[in-house]
Amino acid sequence: MNRTCKIALTVNEVAREAEVEPRLLLVHFLREKLNLTGTHIGCDTSQCGACTVMVNGRAVKSCTMLAVQADGAEVLTVEGLGNMERLHPIQQGFWEKHGLQCGFCTPGVMMAMAGLLQENASPTEAEVRESLEGVICRCTGYQFIVDAVMHAASEMAKSAESAEAAQSVSVGEGE
Ligand code: FES
Ligand code: FES
Repeated sequence: MNRTCKIALTVNEVAREAEVEPRLLLVHFLREKLNLTGTHIGCDTSQCGACTVMVNGRAVKSCTMLAVQADGAEVLTVEGLGNMERLHPIQQGFWEKHGLQCGFCTPGVMMAMAGLLQENASPTEAEVRESLEGVICRCTGYQFIVDAVMHAASEMAKSAESAEAAQSVSVGEGE
């Protein structure tokens, strides 16, 4: 008889509970139990990064973690990154700068780069390239991915500036 464990976690802001085998990897839990197949599996050596998701705000290769280790965590997959009405700046950047070809690596690359921008809002090109070390793209040659991330960073900076300007106007109005 296989032993199972009960886990409770939040995935893309939805509370989930499940009985899982202790050996089940997080990537398999997301794909097979929750049907969130945007998280891809590109290797069996933890090298490709196609399975990258955010766990408690940090980019993690979901094939390197057991589902039971995500008990109590907040998980964000590519399905929760943005939506058709409002793309995440990273998704918009990939759209604007043609950051993909076959698209197989793209969900993982976008999650890894969203994680980078969370930690470093204005990375240099060299820093973007360095953070791409853990994610493999077999098609693009990476230049368009770097362009997409730089575009996203600059759009995020512009939004932050206009939000700040709007806030100082409303504070001024209140005086
Ligand atoms: S499937 Fe996780 S690193 Fe390749
Ligand atoms: S776009 Fe094909 S592997 Fe990256």
